[in-house]
Order: sequence, then structure tokens, then C-alpha cells
Amino acid sequence: GKGQYRHFMQKEIYEQPAVVGDTLHTFFNPLARSIQLPDFPFDLANISRLTIVGCGTASLAGMVAKYWLEQEARQLVEVDIASEFRYREAPLPDNGVSLFISQSGETIDTLAALRYAKEQGQKIISVVNVPESTIARESDMVLPTLAGPEIGVASTKAFTTQLTVLACLAIGIGRAKGTITPEREAELSSALTEIPSRITEILNTDEIIRKISADVSEARDVLYLGRGNLYPMAMEGALKLKEISYIHAEGYAAGEMKHGPIALIDENVPVIACAPSGPMMEKTISNLQEVHARGGQIILFSDEEGVARAGDIAKHSVVLPKVDPFVAPILYALPIQLLAYHTAVLKGTDVDQPRNLAKSVTVE
Ligand code: M6R
Repeated sequence: GKGQYRHFMQKEIYEQPAVVGDTLHTFFNPLARSIQLPDFPFDLANISRLTIVGCGTASLAGMVAKYWLEQEARQLVEVDIASEFRYREAPLPDNGVSLFISQSGETIDTLAALRYAKEQGQKIISVVNVPESTIARESDMVLPTLAGPEIGVASTKAFTTQLTVLACLAIGIGRAKGTITPEREAELSSALTEIPSRITEILNTDEIIRKISADVSEARDVLYLGRGNLYPMAMEGALKLKEISYIHAEGYAAGEMKHGPIALIDENVPVIACAPSGPMMEKTISNLQEVHARGGQIILFSDEEGVARAGDIAKHSVVLPKVDPFVAPILYALPIQLLAYHTAVLKGTDVDQPRNLAKSVTVE
């Protein structure tokens, strides 16, 4: 049941410190401060290209993984959505590995994409939440997420546990290839270990986010912006909001704003920025200044330093913990989920079973 919670989605948001911790502990050796992956039936140091495929939120977890794998493991990666990939007849390389991400393990397009990749001689890894699912059964290697059953149609804890598994995989591949030094691995490991308690800290901003959702619930259109590994988070924010509140939302890379979407900005369009402090923040600040100059209402998710830097151009700010940029996507998923959740509650929609959607898409 839902216990003390009003919706399954809310309960599942609050389960994240525990389930992310459980998932992390399957790969993490706290004594050695290093990631311990299970044995793979192929050499992790010699993957010519990793092709990552999923649908919806799962594909966005794959996009985050691309940033991690490129940066930390210097791994060649392609990411695609399953409904495109499966029909494209893409050539796949020798010594290629394909990775499929799915909460249910039954999504029809993802399964068809897996079968195509297998026919093309790719080794198959899957990240699934249901270990007895079809996708798990047809894989050479399964990396399970330990999210437990996810009932709400909107993916929350499945997503953050997928990210957790993918972060460990990126570190494992980096180690196998020798691109990650032991010092860097220790640094990343401690950043990962801190995640459950950081998530708990962010859950304490629930009330602030609930208040902000009043503004969002009145909007017709909402824009989400992010850069680097938070660009996929901008898309995830938009997906989550439209799925459960029925408000039109788009996620964009902050640097793409001036190539089109800035034309939408006026005082009725909230712009939600995921922008932690760091070298890229200056760029995002100048994008936000352009939004501000056009009357757009900025909602900023950042850390203390970033919120101070943005000054009064933001109408609302949510202060998040300052963390290694590597782990930021896992943490920035939280305010995004809470904002969508509270906006939907205010709008009175069916949060757990939004119209027109199914939890698992097993028909084409
Ligand atoms: O079960 P899967 O992870 O394969 O499902 C993929 C998508 O249908 C799913 O993530 C969908 O986008 C969510 N409802 C988003 O919250």
C-alpha cells in the first residue's frame, strides 16, 4: 500500500535514499573504496562501441551515461530511443556491446531493439528492475536495479537506480581501460556513497518546491534548461511534468536557447534551470540573463554558490548540496520529480495513473 503517502509516486520518491543505497551496495566495496562489477562474459576494456537504447525516461538515463562513459572511460557511445533504433537497421561494429535500459524489462520497442542488436552479433547488457523479465532473460549480462516494484506510471526510483548502476558501470569500464586513476576512483566512490544522505537532504526541500509549484501549475508552457550531464535532466523534467500535470514542457540544452526556444519566452513561461556552480555555470547564467530580460520567470536549481551567483535574476531558487559534477544528475532528478509531483497534485490530475499512459508499453 501507500502507507503514510498520498500517492505511490510520492512514496516512491521518498524511497530513493534506501533503494539507491541498496543498488549502490551491490557494486560497491566500502573497504576498498572501489566499484566491484560482476564478471562480464567479454572484456570491458575492449568495447569498440557501446550502443545504449531505451524508451522515455530509461533513454534519458542512457544519455546521462553517455556523458559519464565518454568523460571518465573515454568510451565511444551511441544513445538512441528504441522505437527509432529498431527500424533503422544501423550498422553495428565488431566487438560492439549494446546496453538496454528498462524498468519493466517488457517494453516492446526496447525488446525488438535488443533482438536486432543480438542478430548483428552484439553482446547484450541490460539494466532492468524486473529480473525475470523478457529483456533480462535475453541478455548476456543483467545489471539489476534494486528499486523494488514501481507502481506510479511516472518513473522515479527506477530512474535514479538506473543512473546508479550506470555510474558504477562507467567507473568499472574506466578502470578496465585505465582511464580512471585509483585517486579518481576513490573520489567518485565517495561521491557515490554520499548520495543516499544527499537525497535525504534534498527531500527536505519538499515544502519549498511545493510552494514553487503554485506558479508552475498556472503556466501553459514550461521550459527546462541544463548543460552537460544535466541536459538530459532538463528533458527528464519536461517529460515528468507533461506526463502527470498535462502542462506542455520542453527540455533544452541551455546553449540551444538562442537557436529557437527563446522566441517562446515571455512573463507567462517559467524557465527551470538545473545549473550547479562550476565552470559551465557562467555560460548558463548568460542564457538565464536573456530569459530574465524577456520577462521569463526563472526557477533555479543550484547549490549555494550558484544561487548566490545568479542573484536576483531567479524568481525562485532551490539550494541543493554541492557535489562532484559526476553525481549531479542523480541528485538533480529529485527536485524535478518533486516539482512535477506537486504541480500535478495542485492541478488535481491522476498522479499515479495519468490519462492515456500505461506503466509498461508492451504494444507498438
Ligand atoms: O519499463 P521501461 O523502463 O522500459 O519504460 C520506458 C518508458 O515507457 C518509461 O520510462 C516512461 O517514459 C515513464 N512513464 C516516464 O516517467
